[in-house]
Amino acid sequence: MPWDAVSLNDGTVMPSIAFGTWKIGNGQGPIDQVEQALSVGFEHVDTAQAYGNEAEAGQALKESGLARDEIFVTTKYSGRDGLDIETSIHNSLKNLGLKYVDLYLIHHPRLAVPDIPTAWAQMEKIKADGLVKTIGVSNFEVKDLAILLAHAKVKPVVNQILLHPYVYARQIPILEYCKANDIVVEAYSSLIPITQLPGGAVDKPVNQIAARLGAKPEQILMAWAKAKGAVVVTTSSKKERLQGYIAAGDLQLTPKDILDIDVAGAVGAHRLTAKTVLRRVAGLALITAGVLALCSYSGVDVI
Ligand SMILES: NC(=O)c1ccc[n+]([C@@H]2O[C@H](COP(=O)([O-])OP(=O)(O)OC[C@H]3O[C@@H](n4cnc5c(N)ncnc54)[C@H](OP(=O)(O)O)[C@@H]3O)[C@@H](O)[C@H]2O)c1
Repeated sequence: MPWDAVSLNDGTVMPSIAFGTWKIGNGQGPIDQVEQALSVGFEHVDTAQAYGNEAEAGQALKESGLARDEIFVTTKYSGRDGLDIETSIHNSLKNLGLKYVDLYLIHHPRLAVPDIPTAWAQMEKIKADGLVKTIGVSNFEVKDLAILLAHAKVKPVVNQILLHPYVYARQIPILEYCKANDIVVEAYSSLIPITQLPGGAVDKPVNQIAARLGAKPEQILMAWAKAKGAVVVTTSSKKERLQGYIAAGDLQLTPKDILDIDVAGAVGAHRLTAKTVLRRVAGLALITAGVLALCSYSGVDVI
């Protein structure tokens, strides 16, 4: 299955792989990188106040010649300079050179000031004012989303979170909570097992699956995140790698491939004793069983 667009809970249609602009700096470099991503088929750009390069992303969008409705733009409220949400979105739109963004996120629950319900009401207002087409959150845990949903008039459409095999077990509760509440999960930093934690337990199944499918390890990790139901937010400075990311949408992992990666993720990135390995794998099974039982008890269908 390719990177089919996903329908969000308010009917918005969003491309399911995004090119992110975190850490790619300022100046001509990021303009070229965003243009390169668009040229290989990315239709979704993910930026943020905090990345400091909304202007470069906007310049690239302009230079691409794409019509506004051919590109999906996400930016985030990062609480920059202590400014409120309404002032910040006006500044972001000015930086990006756009009249609206497709998706606006609260970057982290700690930025929802003075509290989550008040900040979310401001998000609802800028949506009603047409400055953003749709609204969501990032890095929200179950307790944060529960507060938000108890007060919201408009549900968040997405929750953008850290998701890779080494954090999968601890992210199961938020993944299941989002699924039960029709909130799409966006996965960022899914390639951490390669970029920051090489040599860990995940390498073996990922490399074996990659060899079997004639694919690159980074493609397997993306296919794994996709198999978890997530939209993938990634980046690369290299055209060939970006083309590989797009091609990863066609990879088919088997249930065993996914389980092998889950189990290796639970084992962890560092050398462990057999007892710790067993404890972690049992923990993964327990969390999964607990979440499923809770959902079944609440009458929520998560399968
Ligand atoms: N909401 C949040 O709090 C939050 C937090 C973090 C990130 N994000 C979003 O997610 C986007 C992606 O974040 P990320 O950079 O952490 O994502 P990632 O997809 O985990 O990593 C992308 C990086 O992986 C490198 N890479 C890919 N394959 C590789 C390989 N085989 N060997 C070595 N390096 C390889 C790429 O380097 P090359 O350039 O060399 O290809 C690229 O820099 C960000 O730009 C941002 O938009 C959001």
